[in-house]
Amino acid sequence: MKRRNFINYFLGGSLVGTIIAFLYPIISFILPTKQTEAVIKKITAAKLGELAPNMSKIFKFGTSPGILINTPDGELRAFSAICTHLTCTIIYESDTGTILCPCHNGRFDLSGNVVSGPPPAPLESYNVEISGDDIIVSKKA
Ligand code: FES
Repeated sequence: MKRRNFINYFLGGSLVGTIIAFLYPIISFILPTKQTEAVIKKITAAKLGELAPNMSKIFKFGTSPGILINTPDGELRAFSAICTHLTCTIIYESDTGTILCPCHNGRFDLSGNVVSGPPPAPLESYNVEISGDDIIVSKKA
């Protein structure tokens, strides 16, 4: 191989490598790889006795938050903790006995229905069952 050919191959290879290094992140951004997320339908949200009446707990339901509420009557209820307005995380307000979205003052009752504010739809409610010492929350079919 002549010296001139070697230099041409070397520079050409470097140029191709540089172009690939430049284009790869752009193409990866435009065409992201499909990530499969495990679908979680059931989770242990809390232990029995962990929540006194009129208390709540935020738990992780897969990649999104859920809220478990022990009502003042001692009834366990669970909802998605994502507000149906602009997806803020809701909280339980024990002094009013309602669920509040602090972002725009949206308010839900203990059935997840909108009481006031901008949320357009009720909260997604979950099934709650007790299994041994565990409080199991599952998505409704
Ligand atoms: S995001 Fe909840 S009321 Fe706006």
